[in-house]
Amino acid sequence: MITIALTKGRILSETLPLLAAAGIVPDSDITKSRKLIFETNREDIRLVVLRGSDVPTYVKRGSADLGIAGKDMLMETGGDNLYELLDLNIARCRLMTAAVIGREPIQGKTRVATKFTEVARRYYASQKRQVELVKLYGAMEVAPLLDLADEIVDIVDTGNTLIANGLEP
Ligand code: PRP
Repeated sequence: MITIALTKGRILSETLPLLAAAGIVPDSDITKSRKLIFETNREDIRLVVLRGSDVPTYVKRGSADLGIAGKDMLMETGGDNLYELLDLNIARCRLMTAAVIGREPIQGKTRVATKFTEVARRYYASQKRQVELVKLYGAMEVAPLLDLADEIVDIVDTGNTLIANGLEP
């Protein structure tokens, strides 16, 4: 039995057509079901639907044989002991810093809100900028608006969320 760990959310909707093209079809509608493990038309393949941040853990520990996860998660949780087989070129986005439109850059230590603390730590170190990292789990865009942080590090796809909240890259 081969267990493939999938990332739920926007990556999942782009993953399912690729699996179908490879001849792997889940036995029920993954996007509608509350189940998390799915048998497929292939009796030797099953699928498990996880949070993206958990996919590398399942693969590293051998509970899943393969995983499909965002590059952001691989960068954040560390790709050690993982072999990156293929860039599927799906759910493309950019990891960016952003702040309130027009706000002057902070001189000295900058407060940065992000769920990507490892990526952010490395990035700001490379820029030789001192930062205080504030770990958040979602809706990072709120942090500069309520003065929890000066900047955020987050993924940007269309850019609509930044614009809607008065932020700019
Ligand atoms: C992601 C990301 C941004 C948004 C970017 O959040 O954190 O908030 O999408 O997309 P856009 O540039 O197309 O607007 P997601 O919806 O995955 O939820 P999250 O806040 O739980 O991370």
